[in-house]
Formats: sequence, structure tokens, C-alpha cells
Amino acid sequence: MSSNSKDARFWDRMARKYAADPIADMAGYERTLDVTRGYLKASDQAYEFGCGTGTTALKLASSVARLTATDISSEMIAIAREKAAAQGCANAVFEVGAPDAAPWPDASFDVALGFNVLHLIEARGAAYRGVHRLLKPGGLFISKTPCLKEANPVFRLILPPMQLLGRAPYVAFFNAPELEREVVAAGFEIVERARHGSRGKDARIFLAARKV
Ligand SMILES: C[S@@+](CC[C@H](N)C(=O)[O-])C[C@H]1O[C@@H](n2cnc3c(N)ncnc32)[C@H](O)[C@@H]1O
Repeated sequence: MSSNSKDARFWDRMARKYAADPIADMAGYERTLDVTRGYLKASDQAYEFGCGTGTTALKLASSVARLTATDISSEMIAIAREKAAAQGCANAVFEVGAPDAAPWPDASFDVALGFNVLHLIEARGAAYRGVHRLLKPGGLFISKTPCLKEANPVFRLILPPMQLLGRAPYVAFFNAPELEREVVAAGFEIVERARHGSRGKDARIFLAARKV
């Protein structure tokens, strides 16, 4: 089984719990939403990958013309569609998928979003190439990503047995400079880097990058 389909099954199992869990740092989350909105235009075609249950997509959809969001987990997408219908959000669409296998033509989108997902993608090179292909020239790639090399090292010890038991997905360990180098190598120029956490040390780096 490919790591993608194994991870899709993991996230399918997690989806209802993930939807019910509260956001751990609401002030940090709001900051990320505000900063991201500052990059969005009402005419934008936006793409989000790893959208989960659609919480962020549904908050940002009113800032763009249309937001197309994908996730490898069909359960996550089912919940996102339920939430979109319940909220009467007509300009966000949710599809099962991933950036390296997206069906849309080159240069379909003005902006691509990926929140809390890059560390979960083993084939990140292919994902970056997909995002790059989908963006118009000069398009923006905005992400926020846990840099787990900067987090508690105990996590790294307990992860392999959890993965063996199917209790954890694929997880990558990099620090912020390493992540930035990957993004730059994929054909982007970093235009903003920030940490939005409101308490203590924040291992998650917010990056805004422009397709060059
Ligand atoms: C931690 S959740 C984040 C969801 C949402 N972006 C958020 O910030 O709440 C990670 C999401 O990434 C998806 N995911 C995991 N591996 C992926 C991959 N290889 N490609 C695309 N999405 C993936 C999972 O299905 C899950 O919905």
C-alpha cells in the first residue's frame, strides 16, 4: 500500500475526532487568518490542499472569488461538505485529492494554501511541483507548518511504535530553515516568514512565498 493511501485511511479514522477537537491556540489561529486575508483579493481563485474538515477554507472563502480545497481523506472532505452546506457557503468546493495529482490545468489559481500539512507529506517535492504548476506566474503559496525538529524530542521517540501500530501517520522532521530551503528550491521566493503562536515557543512557521 502506498504511504498516501495508508495515511488517507489514518486520517479517515481521525476525521470525526479532528472535527470535534477545539483549536489549541485560538489567538494564534486568528492571527494566521488575518495575515492570510491580507494576501487575498476578492477576484482570487484560491486552492487549499490538506484542508481537513474545511474550517479554514470556510473562514477564508468570503475573501476570494472561489476556493477549491482538497484532502486525501474522503472522510475529512465529507465533513467539510457538510459544514459548507450548513453554513450556506457557495464559493468553496471540496474534493478528494492532492496537489501532485490535481486535475486542473496549469496556472489555474492565484493563491495556494497549505496549513498544518507539509510535515505530513512524504513526497513533498512532488507536492511543491504540483502547487507550482497550479499557480499563475507570481502566484502566492501560503503555509503554516509544524517544524518538529524544533519541538519536544520525546515525540520523535514515541512516534515509530505508534506508526507501527497504525496510531500515527507519516511525519517529517525538519526545522524552519530546512523547510524554507525546500520551498525556495521548488521555485518560490519567500516574501514573509512569521510565528503566530500566542503562548510560549511556537514550532510552527508561517511562510508566504511567491512563484518565480
Ligand atoms: C493536521 S490536519 C490539518 C487540516 C487543516 N489544514 C487544518 O489546519 O486544520 C492534516 C490534513 O492533511 C491531510 N493529509 C495528510 N497527508 C496528506 C498528503 N500526503 N497530501 C495531502 N493531504 C494530506 C490529512 O488528511 C488531514 O486532513
